Amino acid sequence: MPSFAVAALLPLSLLSATALAAPHRSSPPQVVRLVGQAPATNDVTLDQLRERHADSFARLANAVKRGIQAPSAVEKRGSVVHVPLKLHYNEYNGLDAHAAEVSIGGQNLPVLFDTGSPDLVVPVDCKFGCANGFFNTTASPTFVKDGGDVSVAYGTGVATGYVADDTVRVAALAVEKQVFAAATQLSTAGGENWAAIFGLAPGGGAYTGGPSFIQRLVQQGSLARNEFSMSLKSSRPELVLGGVDRGFLQASLITVPNLGAASGIWLAGMGATSVDNKVVDGTVSYALIDSGSSFNSIPRSAAAAVYAATNGTLWKTQRMAVAGIEADVDIYTVPCEPSSTSGRIGFTFIGASSSTPVSMSAVSNVLEYVDDVASESCFGGLYGANVELVPGSGMQGALLGMPFLKSVLAVFNFDDAANGVSMAFSGVRMPK
Ligand SMILES: *[C@@H]1O[C@H](CO)[C@@H](O)[C@H](O)[C@H]1NC(C)=O
Ligand SMILES: *[C@@H]1O[C@H](CO)[C@@H](O)[C@H](O)[C@H]1NC(C)=O
Repeated sequence: MPSFAVAALLPLSLLSATALAAPHRSSPPQVVRLVGQAPATNDVTLDQLRERHADSFARLANAVKRGIQAPSAVEKRGSVVHVPLKLHYNEYNGLDAHAAEVSIGGQNLPVLFDTGSPDLVVPVDCKFGCANGFFNTTASPTFVKDGGDVSVAYGTGVATGYVADDTVRVAALAVEKQVFAAATQLSTAGGENWAAIFGLAPGGGAYTGGPSFIQRLVQQGSLARNEFSMSLKSSRPELVLGGVDRGFLQASLITVPNLGAASGIWLAGMGATSVDNKVVDGTVSYALIDSGSSFNSIPRSAAAAVYAATNGTLWKTQRMAVAGIEADVDIYTVPCEPSSTSGRIGFTFIGASSSTPVSMSAVSNVLEYVDDVASESCFGGLYGANVELVPGSGMQGALLGMPFLKSVLAVFNFDDAANGVSMAFSGVRMPK
């Protein structure tokens, strides 16, 4: 299958799990979850979901500013911890996923760090074929089953199980009694190189009751700075908890307010789209920053303008889910060996500290070969789709996933109580 099969990885905005058949512990009031490519267990239509969750959607539209308060009494003396990531590519060089080993109850498991979802979801006592491992509950003396049932829905499937806790360790940082979803069923049973999903959305713990690992670190003052940063650049991919690796910075950081703080997601207001610093489209959109998505999506007119300027060709318009919303999606092909010095695709963000576009290289936008021809053509990682991510907002939705994060250093900060949780991006000037 061509790239849209790849594309379905984990588009993830958050939609209250009440739409799913299985029981759950609590329905998260602030969280918006959009379910797409409806899993087999979900016989509710997308329209019904949107209707049911109109309130949550409206809340997101209002983008109420409410950050996660840093504990002011705690003096910052915590750590900066580097977590090397392993990238997994598809047949060309499109980034499919990234993973890192994390210890849960003393057992190491590869996890996908997902800025698009709120909870740690761990397959346990696997009876459904977990190629990349699972957590053995009886082998951990510190494991506690908290009891409540839980269901976590992703754009590509659903995890069901129960709420549990155990000691979770990421590199040198350990949190005891960290709550997580122990998944006994997982319709997307891991990826190519990961077994568990490690949610890093600001509204952590939306399904399990939380707080999430990152929230616990913030609350405990465990971090040197209340932020984490991610770079998926192939030379040295890593997640940094508590700061930024200055070695990655090739341009100054551009700070972007998080419009999704109240809804527990990382959401930027996106303004103009440019190619090589020249504006090609001015459609305004809400962009979900999702490290669990293997593709980007922007409004159709913006994508068309980008590909007109970068030698792309419309391959097909395909019905598929973007951030959980079904839409007609324009998929383009691009040269597999694009120019390394031109064709940089840039975005400017609303309320940002600079109007300089944050750019991704043309190379980062190449996904994988179009496999039905021995061609020189590859799929572009940027799709065109008109989706209303925030219903009622009258604004288009966008999704910035791995192809974008391959080109930038992204910082996710929990400190800025006045402006809501903020993000910062530094674009690359050159690929690699
Ligand atoms: C889990 O661990 C227990 C105790 O170490 C062991 O007896 C059991 O076989 C393990 N279960 C699986 C499914 O690996
Ligand atoms: C588009 O094609 C032209 C002509 O072959 C080439 O000069 C240019 O660098 C290409 N642009 C990109 C972004 O690849």
